Amino acid sequence: GRVVVLYGGDSAEREVSLKSGEAVLGALERSGVAPIGFDPAEGGLTGLEALAPDRVFIALHGRGGEDGTLQGALELLGIPYTGSGVLASALGMDKQRTKLIWQALGLPTPECVMLKADADWQAVVERLGLPLIVKPVHEGSTLGITIVDSAETLASAYRDAARYDTRVMAERFIQGEEYTVSLIGDEELPAIRVEVPGGFYDYEAKYLSDETLYHLPCGLSETEERRLAELCRAAFEAIGCQGWGRVDVMRDEQGRFWLLEVNTVPGMTDHSLVPQAAAHAGIDFDALVLRILDTAGR
Ligand code: DAL
Ligand code: MG
Repeated sequence: GRVVVLYGGDSAEREVSLKSGEAVLGALERSGVAPIGFDPAEGGLTGLEALAPDRVFIALHGRGGEDGTLQGALELLGIPYTGSGVLASALGMDKQRTKLIWQALGLPTPECVMLKADADWQAVVERLGLPLIVKPVHEGSTLGITIVDSAETLASAYRDAARYDTRVMAERFIQGEEYTVSLIGDEELPAIRVEVPGGFYDYEAKYLSDETLYHLPCGLSETEERRLAELCRAAFEAIGCQGWGRVDVMRDEQGRFWLLEVNTVPGMTDHSLVPQAAAHAGIDFDALVLRILDTAGR
């Protein structure tokens, strides 16, 4: 059947998606699938329909690709697609409502409060402590995120985030180590510990810098890594995710894990985490892409 890879799009993560899509197209070509690449920002939905795909590989990040809207359109067109469905995609894109669900189920996630232009900044600082993190609710790739270390800079951090989104949240900062767990089908891949010397894992560290360290094996004991994988599986299922995804987690200095977010279309660039975790588990990039494609229509 005909496989169409959707990539590009018009979200703030367009550049990342172009790289993910090119990598996925290359893998499918090497596997003899003869994929067609399609950028919905250029061809629109009717252009996609005209290609009459049998299956779609979604390599779009952010709004209009990862957030449930495209998934809804594909459902209506009757085209099977990779990854999560409408509801889980929409929820996964909303970092605040994701937290509400995790909290309701007793899964650990750092406390957050929603910010407004006229917020009482001092009250926010009293509630969450310093430093704290300001994030757009719907953005990926760390765009618009600031670590704030004084009440005075909170308002400008809010304004930065508000350039990306109408909803902005402040989150309690967890001092410790950052981990990520990739899930493909029923399998949890080995956890990766991400370390950014002297900084945090922002857009620069994710896609541009060569200094970011990816610890794989992650350094946790076998028991702890299993506990982390189980937590991530529970977090993934709580949101109703399917197919594949990646859950980002902090581990505080007491060894407690805190869920940050779920990514329903994780990056697939050469700097990205899922391909690294897969490689460590003995799944090469081409095999990984086929496994993900296989989740379409399940
Ligand atoms: N949002 C980016 C693509 C990621 O999570 O990998
Ligand atoms: Mg994300």
